[in-house]
Amino acid sequence: MAQIIDGKQVSASVKQEVKDEAAKLREEKGLKVGLAVVIVGNNPASRVYVNNKKKACEAVGFQSFEYALDENTTQEQLLDLVNVLNRDDRVNGILVQLPLPKHIDEKTVIDAISPEKDVDAFHPVNVGRIMIGDYAFLPCTPAGVMRLIASTGTKIAGKQCVVIGRSNIVGKPMAMLLLHESGTVTVCHSKTKNLKEICLGADILVVAVGRANFVTGDMVKEGAVVIDVGMNRLDDGKLCGDVEFESAEKKASYITPVPGGVGPMTIAMLMKNTLTAAKQQNGLA
Ligand code: GUN
Repeated sequence: MAQIIDGKQVSASVKQEVKDEAAKLREEKGLKVGLAVVIVGNNPASRVYVNNKKKACEAVGFQSFEYALDENTTQEQLLDLVNVLNRDDRVNGILVQLPLPKHIDEKTVIDAISPEKDVDAFHPVNVGRIMIGDYAFLPCTPAGVMRLIASTGTKIAGKQCVVIGRSNIVGKPMAMLLLHESGTVTVCHSKTKNLKEICLGADILVVAVGRANFVTGDMVKEGAVVIDVGMNRLDDGKLCGDVEFESAEKKASYITPVPGGVGPMTIAMLMKNTLTAAKQQNGLA
């Protein structure tokens, strides 16, 4: 039976580290860390995420600046706001909540965020830096996964690591981070043949496909570390991951639950990135 990786506990310790450091910056340098969060429209899930990000800012002693824009905001208006925030010294990090309404091109907006304030690490400059291993910010979800793996004491070097999913936000950067730690990395996706066979070779299995119960226990190697990035809402309203927990936990050595696994880490890593941004912008990192 697997040990459960407690994402809430690990995220609390990350947030505590950030809080302590932010307090030190305030006391010793008179610096207050600030995060701007921009949301366009009324997507209910985005609303929940943005509220959680604001609460996390308060908890670690950051200032948060929320810009809740109307669904009909034009791309130009949004770009104008991003440019104002790029120049605002109180704002160390800028996060534009995705998805954006259909009439706004996400890529154009992401490209407009100053890479130094891009705490999501979505800007092409930051994506490129991750590729060459010279990064200030890591994208929040993969960074959270790395921290969860570290919390188990598992060494990544030389291990067979399988990532299922190839999104720009999770799968691709996840593969890079595992590679930087000298894992032997395989990236699987919807066209992959022999998925079960490949998964059965994984010492570390990271699943980010967005399909409920996609990975079942018969695909998990005995003793594997299983990280479930999925967050699927079932018809009955229940949250469930991409991994069928009951069967997978019988095989894994460590496994993340949903909820309470990767989810809480993402916001904690966002706070960490914002702190890093503030330090860098003030010549302290
Ligand atoms: N929407 C869902 N996840 C994210 C995220 O990590 N960052 C942003 N900006 N939007 C999101």
